[in-house]
Amino acid sequence: MVQWYESRLGQGARFGDSPAPFLLFPQVYEALDPVEAITVRDDVTQAILGICFTHERETHLSIGIVATSPEAAGKGIARQMMQTALDKALGLGKRARLVSSLLNLDSFSLYTRLGFIPGAIFQDVLFNVPETGLTIPAPEGHERVRLAKVEDAIRIADFEFATQGIRREKDFHFFLRNDVGDWRVLVQENAVGELTGYMVVSVHPSSSMIGPGAVTDEKAATALLWQALDTLRGKSTVILVPCLAPGLVKTLYRWGGRNVELHVAQCTSAPLPTTGFAFPTFLPESA
Ligand SMILES: CC(C)(COP(=O)(O)OP(=O)(O)OC[C@H]1O[C@@H](n2cnc3c(N)ncnc32)[C@H](O)[C@@H]1OP(=O)(O)O)[C@@H](O)C(=O)NCCC(=O)NCCS
Repeated sequence: MVQWYESRLGQGARFGDSPAPFLLFPQVYEALDPVEAITVRDDVTQAILGICFTHERETHLSIGIVATSPEAAGKGIARQMMQTALDKALGLGKRARLVSSLLNLDSFSLYTRLGFIPGAIFQDVLFNVPETGLTIPAPEGHERVRLAKVEDAIRIADFEFATQGIRREKDFHFFLRNDVGDWRVLVQENAVGELTGYMVVSVHPSSSMIGPGAVTDEKAATALLWQALDTLRGKSTVILVPCLAPGLVKTLYRWGGRNVELHVAQCTSAPLPTTGFAFPTFLPESA
């Protein structure tokens, strides 16, 4: 992955200079989706040539991370792993979903050749949050944002199903148990106590990330993202912001956000009808 970003985009430095922080990914996947990894190994040395993680959820099979070692690239290994994942989705009778980089035509082409249909586009917006916290005043609706409790897991899963058409309850139990990784789950409610959004923040030293999240509208997103950013004081983080939320994008530029990449949601069926907005993440890739 790092070599691909360095050789194609000159952006290897974005991933730091040590593999240690990346151990969190297999640790989370082992806890959340055990026995769901597909690997391809060298016949002789048994060295891993490719990996493809799948994440089975109530409504879909999500796929990611997918990567092939640089010396084995272009030999059909990723296609082979993806076909195994797609066969699994077919066997389960579920659509397959993933989020892929629009700066990476190797993976974009691989997925669209296999029948994935591109849907919502996201701007990856980078923030460096000052040690002393955000200097922007808290937006309207911020007072209705709170930390979720263990008993909110099912409500959050139902909210996401109602607004985004996907359900992944075990993720919310996982975040709220907080045994592996270090997560904060924020929710916003309206005046009558109905959920208007949720946003997960990874505050683990190896990974400062915002998402997954879903909201009913841009106002809810603004309030939740303000709180999520303030939770990451002194850290850098990237938010995958839906391009179809222009007011929110403008606000995030005003807050100092910088574009660093573009991603697109892809699915083996036509995009689902949704309301509000979704915020995918790279850990866990269960959207
Ligand atoms: C993306 C990645 C996994 C591809 O792995 P790979 O093993 O080299 O890919 P494969 O050889 O199996 O297949 C690539 C397919 O895309 C096709 N392809 C590649 N570039 C293409 C282009 N510009 N236009 C059309 N098709 C293209 C190839 O022809 C091939 O299809 P085919 O099997 O039908 O001929 C690899 O480049 C990688 O690990 N990149 C870094 C990590 C990464 O970006 N992961 C994805 C994150 S979203």
